[in-house]
Amino acid sequence: MAAQIINGKEISKKIRSEIAKEVDELKKLNVIPGLAVILVGNNQASRTYVKSKQKACQELGMHSLLFEYPETIEESELLNKIEELNHDDTIHGILVQLPLPEHINEVKVIEAISPDKDVDGFHPINIGRMMTGQDAFLPCTPYGIMVLLKEMGIDAAGKNVVVIGRSNIVGKPSGQLFLNENATVTYCHSKTKDLKAHTKKADILVSAVGKANFITADFIKEGAVVIDVGINRNEDGKLCGDVAFEEAKEIAGYITPVPGGVGPMTITMLMYNTLKAAKKFQPALQKTK
Ligand code: GUN
Repeated sequence: MAAQIINGKEISKKIRSEIAKEVDELKKLNVIPGLAVILVGNNQASRTYVKSKQKACQELGMHSLLFEYPETIEESELLNKIEELNHDDTIHGILVQLPLPEHINEVKVIEAISPDKDVDGFHPINIGRMMTGQDAFLPCTPYGIMVLLKEMGIDAAGKNVVVIGRSNIVGKPSGQLFLNENATVTYCHSKTKDLKAHTKKADILVSAVGKANFITADFIKEGAVVIDVGINRNEDGKLCGDVAFEEAKEIAGYITPVPGGVGPMTITMLMYNTLKAAKKFQPALQKTK
């Protein structure tokens, strides 16, 4: 039987409408959730992502500021701007779009962001909180994956989860969030021997590799949940994921398409985190929630 398609666009729409309602409530208290985005250089993909983030802010009635800098900006100038935004009460979330130019120390920049405004969930304090199961800003793509599963009524507890990829942004935190949900987690990566032997045992398979058609049907256990985090172009220049969708959907139980699966959730969870950051500025609201 063909897999059920996990419609990230629809789920995203539903969650965004819930966020918009909460933004309206906050506005009655004279708080407008504010996101500051810092973009360095001319990376086209980064530019596109940043535009989508700003558009989402506008659509949800949030305040957004964009700070654009040339590739040649000095690290100290960037750090000064972050420090200024850390103290700006109209800004609740700060996001520095990655990657940064080589002469800038990415770790130092991320660590300069106040953990209370780190809506990307990249600061070591938030990563530590996530690992120890405390309240934290969760990284947006992994968080989006967990919300997709929850919305589909899929419980990860006791399941074999295989994550392919070990990036700080997607692979590592995805595995951690599944562990927090009591799954048995295996991380696979470029040095993994016999990848297929692992993926064939996966009840939930998460692919964050970045190669078109990397996961073919023979890598998938019958009935598995397949989460495709890849954003690639196929030979016709069309957007596609890591998974050979047409054949994979014949064996999987559930599958996310690309586009329209995980992608829309990333920005939705960024909006959610920004709202959460703004709410934290409101002691009265915190008491009732
Ligand atoms: N570059 C690619 N993905 C992301 C993301 O989620 N956040 C930031 N800040 N940079 C990115």
